[in-house]
Amino acid sequence: MAVGVRTQDLRKIYSSAPPMAAGGFVARGSAKGSKQPKPQITALDGLSLEIQPGEIFGLLGPNGAGKSTTVGVLTTRVRPTSGQAWIGQHDVWKEQAEVKHLIGVVPQRPNHDFSLTAREILIFHAAYFGMGSKERNERADSLLEKFKLTDRANQMVRGFSGGMMQRLSIARAMMHDPQLLFLDEPSAGLDPQTRILLWDIIRDYNREGKTILLTTHYMEEADALCHRLAIVDHGKIIALDTPQQLKASIPGGYLLRLRFGNQTPELLQRLQSLAGVREVRSNDGTATDVYADRGGSLIPEIAAVAVSAGGELSDVHISEPSLENLFLHHTGRSLRD
Ligand SMILES: Nc1ncnc2c1ncn2[C@@H]1O[C@H](COP(=O)(O)OP(=O)(O)OP(=O)(O)O)[C@@H](O)[C@H]1O
Ligand SMILES: [Mg+2]
Repeated sequence: MAVGVRTQDLRKIYSSAPPMAAGGFVARGSAKGSKQPKPQITALDGLSLEIQPGEIFGLLGPNGAGKSTTVGVLTTRVRPTSGQAWIGQHDVWKEQAEVKHLIGVVPQRPNHDFSLTAREILIFHAAYFGMGSKERNERADSLLEKFKLTDRANQMVRGFSGGMMQRLSIARAMMHDPQLLFLDEPSAGLDPQTRILLWDIIRDYNREGKTILLTTHYMEEADALCHRLAIVDHGKIIALDTPQQLKASIPGGYLLRLRFGNQTPELLQRLQSLAGVREVRSNDGTATDVYADRGGSLIPEIAAVAVSAGGELSDVHISEPSLENLFLHHTGRSLRD
């Protein structure tokens, strides 16, 4: 039976200082052990979402947005400061054992025991989940094959490349056939061919009725894979819908990023009055974003307006509807900034 996910107003404030090396630097004049102000980092700021059973759901957002913290809370590794989370009917914090049986987790950074072989890692994981010897051997063989690791099965993980370790992490998370799979940046470090292989594996797993939550920075990945998507920034959901609907919500569809030698209020006003222009936004006084119903055909008109308003057009970048544009629209920042 497919399992859904729900969170209610999750907040996470990290208040512990970042870990320091042993004998770490102590500022002159501040005695060891003296009170330093504790940093307060709000990683989640009231995050509520509902993922349907059998859905492939994506969390998309820039570095530090709170994606891994959300996954951490949902997989029992991070205790929320307030709010609640459920996997199926189970409260994640209060019913951790039940939750752990339902989920498989691919962490953002591989955490394998380097002194084990790939096969041992899979077999030990399945044994931990109580899978019988015959079944776990068969499943390990099939997953090693699926992730193209058969010829590496008996080698120690210490000598694996980053991409191989990542593939092994995903295989391990699938070993006990969990109802719900969490994949935190699953394709980071994978070559393009392997990324496509991974997408196929995720789709097949989902067709078996499994729910999947993944985090990503890659627009193409979110677009290609996810039934629905939440765009997260500063620990909050800023948009949530199907990739198609999210793209359709960008005003006008086209985004023209412009730079002018001299950007005056008059220039911005005149851009706004051009046919097909839906929205004009000035970023940091030098770049201007124009959302419009058309792309290239607007350029001659924009150039003419610029000349007559005394601000020469110095750079143009046109993009068609994409999730990247959507992110820009909501945050004023590029995902890659
Ligand atoms: N253990 C921790 N202690 C202190 N602060 C933390 C800890 N883990 C995360 N943070 C902070 O919480 C915020 C959210 O981090 P998180 O790892 O959830 O972001 P993310 O969206 O997964 O980013 P990325 O795309 O880089 O993986 C960041 O400001 C981060 O520095
Ligand atoms: Mg992360």
